[in-house]
Amino acid sequence: MSLTGQLSGGGEITLCPIDEAYPKQLIHSPYENWGDKAAAANQMIIERWCIRLRAQGAPVADVGYLSAHVVWYGPTLGSRAMNIGIGIVAEYRGQGIGSLSQRLLAEYLHSQGYLRVEASTDVANLPEQRALAAAGFEFEGIARLAQGRADGVHDLQVWSHLPGS
Ligand SMILES: CC(C)(COP(=O)(O)OP(=O)(O)OC[C@H]1O[C@@H](n2cnc3c(N)ncnc32)[C@H](O)[C@@H]1OP(=O)(O)O)[C@@H](O)C(=O)NCCC(=O)NCCS
Repeated sequence: MSLTGQLSGGGEITLCPIDEAYPKQLIHSPYENWGDKAAAANQMIIERWCIRLRAQGAPVADVGYLSAHVVWYGPTLGSRAMNIGIGIVAEYRGQGIGSLSQRLLAEYLHSQGYLRVEASTDVANLPEQRALAAAGFEFEGIARLAQGRADGVHDLQVWSHLPGS
């Protein structure tokens, strides 16, 4: 399963596994402004990838990151889903990198045995909703008061990607 894909406007992206030591890029976004984080959330096991861009005439650049954590809907393997997240450095947005990266990651996670790959995004986050739709995710509904950030608690849209989407 390839973690590399071609952008329609030219250039290639590769998803590269990273760990806590990786110097993560700062993503400026109201949707990443968490405020005080809960200590209990440190127990979450989160897998991470950086998004590496190779474009003609430009140095190789890490232009964002992806994350994924397991969500259990019951005690069986068939109840196991992956919830993914993404951030792209502002100057690289709007080139299809977000949609291609999320499609590549969803297909990779399917190849690892996850039937359900889900993503949740703020009801006001239109760019991410467009990117998810372009990546083959389908909108499922609203998770009410699901995410607390520095400016309050927000409703989220829930999207999912299934094998063959
Ligand atoms: C959301 C995000 C990951 C999308 O990445 P990206 O590389 O810009 O995504 P794409 O280029 O594949 O697609 C962006 C889509 O949003 C659209 N878009 C951009 N700005 C928009 C706006 N203000 N209103 C509506 N649509 C917008 C683009 O036109 C494009 O849609 P289209 O392909 O149908 O034309 C990126 O904007 C980002 O990192 N934002 C900040 C962090 C964030 O919101 N992360 C997700 C939290 S759940």
